[in-house]
Parts: sequence; structure tokens; C-alpha cells
Amino acid sequence: MLSVYVMTEKQIELIRQSWLLVKPASKEAGIAFYEKLFAAAPGIRHLFKKDVTEQAEKLMNMLSFVVSKLDGLEGIITDITALGARHHQYGAKPEHYDVVGNCLIETLKDGLAEKWNTELQQAWIAAFTIIKTAMVAAQKTGSCTNEIIKDAAACNGKYSQHNLKS
Ligand code: HEM
Repeated sequence: MLSVYVMTEKQIELIRQSWLLVKPASKEAGIAFYEKLFAAAPGIRHLFKKDVTEQAEKLMNMLSFVVSKLDGLEGIITDITALGARHHQYGAKPEHYDVVGNCLIETLKDGLAEKWNTELQQAWIAAFTIIKTAMVAAQKTGSCTNEIIKDAAACNGKYSQHNLKS
């Protein structure tokens, strides 16, 4: 298995600590995320057929899984590839990821309030960018390699503040 640099240890630790704070209110955070998403991008609402509470739970479970594996993303590459491929079936497009990322970060920011800061924001952007890049690659090609995760890690700084509402 390839050993890849993914995020700094500090970033991983920051995300883990922040996720511990989010988890007790996971259900509310998931629902708040979808409310934000559907307000920001009403055009994608029709893609979501299932009950939002159920979808919110699935999303938060997936995020918990990813957060628990941040120091070894290469070990879950098949899960991320499969998730990306399923998203192709759901009608998700590469251009939808930015609004999803923005709403996720905004939800975390609202939930964590005074515990939120720029360093934590950068860490979440880095994590989201890596997952997004791997999912989009899987959507486009049907597969995703550890090289893609590595590339995403190398360029995560380029997914910068300008993509986010301040
Ligand atoms: C990091 C990014 C994302 C993650 C972690 C994520 C995670 C998930 C998970 C865990 C599910 C449950 C079903 C499954 O496991 O296949 C799901 C479903 C879905 N996601 Fe995502 N997703 C992401 C991005 C997106 C984007 C960009 C879109 C674009 C519109 C999207 C649209 C959907 C839709 C339409 C469903 C199916 C809902 C339904 O069946 O009603 N997701 N997502």
C-alpha cells in the first residue's frame, strides 16, 4: 500500500477535537446542513429523494468514519471511490461540491461558535478538498487511486478562502 502524506498531524488533531464537540448534536447539525444546502442551491433539492433526517444521519456517519481515518485515508480509498461512484448515480456533478463544502463549513462554524477559528477552517477545507477530489475522480473515471488523494493533499491550499463565504 502506498504511504501518502495527507494532512498535517496538527490539522488532523484539530478536526478530531472539533468533531468530538459536534457529535453530541450530530442530528441537529446534519439537518442544519441540509437546510443550508437547499437554501443555497435549490436546484439540487430534487436529487434528494429520501427523508432528510435519514440522509443527515448517513452523512454524519460517513463524516465520522472519514474523521476516524484521516491519518490513513489510503486505507479507505475503496470506500471513497464507491461513494463517488454512487454520487454519479445520484446525479451529483463536480460543480456541486463547492456549495456542499461551503455549507458544511458554515454549519460547523455555526455549531462550534467561539471554538471556530481560521486554523480549524483551513483544516476542514483541506479534509473536504481531499475527499471531494477523490470522489470527483471516481465519478469521472469510475476509479480513484492513492495518487489522487496525494495530489489532492498537495494542492489543498489552492481550495482557498475565496470559495467560502467569510
Ligand atoms: C464530501 C462530500 C460528500 C459526502 C461525504 C457525501 C455523503 C453522502 C452519503 C453518506 C450519502 C448516503 C448514501 C450513500 O452512502 O451512497 C449521500 C447521498 C447523497 N448525496 Fe452526498 N455526499 C457528498 C457530496 C455530495 C454532493 C456534492 C452532492 C450533490 C448534489 C450530493 C448529493 C447526494 C444525493 C442526491 C444523495 C442521495 C440522497 C437520496 O437518496 O435521497 N452529495 N451522500
